[in-house]
Amino acid sequence: MIKTSTDPFETFASWYRDAQCHPAIPDASAVNLATVSSSGAPSSRMVLIKDCSSDGFVFYTNLSSRKAGELKANPNAALCFYWAPLGRQIRIEGRVIQVSGDEADAYFATRPIESRIGAWASRQSEELESRKILAGRIAKTAARFAGRTVSRPPFWSGFRLTPDRMEFWTNRSGRLHDRVGFERIAADRWRRFLIYP
Ligand SMILES: Cc1cc2nc3c(=O)[nH]c(=O)nc-3n(C[C@H](O)[C@H](O)[C@H](O)COP(=O)(O)O)c2cc1C
Repeated sequence: MIKTSTDPFETFASWYRDAQCHPAIPDASAVNLATVSSSGAPSSRMVLIKDCSSDGFVFYTNLSSRKAGELKANPNAALCFYWAPLGRQIRIEGRVIQVSGDEADAYFATRPIESRIGAWASRQSEELESRKILAGRIAKTAARFAGRTVSRPPFWSGFRLTPDRMEFWTNRSGRLHDRVGFERIAADRWRRFLIYP
């Protein structure tokens, strides 16, 4: 049986450390993010988690993107990490809220200059006629900010997903995998339970 704390964030932190230290896992922070449109249709894509604590899991994106539009209409979302070399999956479900402007500014300032310029130049998730148009937008943005700090675009920020359910899965032989679920029953109390594989 896998060892999990009574606090799912402690177990998350321990598993996340293992994934970050594993030589065969190139980026432990990569996670699948699922959102739901206002009409109930799901969509998913990968994002990078930039902060995680008992307050939740933070990722950054363009606020005009498809995912951001879906999250604004319906804040329910799910994350799924899978670290194959460790045989571990973590599922996280909850609701998102946008991070503060100060928090987003602080993270944006740590990004490489190309990523900051790219954030201004990309109309993420819109149709793009040609790569030439994107290259032109990047050149224009770079010229506009030449010699100046590239500030955070008003249309770029982060979301914090605060979980109300988490599940820790470990690969076991014969497909009899271990699954341990956690359901939030109060602000800082969780019910822990086993789940059939
Ligand atoms: C490993 C990986 C990490 C990614 N991280 C991010 C991210 O942190 N933020 C982001 O906006 N897009 C990220 N992307 C791109 C998204 O998967 C997606 O293509 C983009 O955000 C547009 O999604 P949307 O149209 O559903 O909004 C990442 C892609 C990969 C493969």
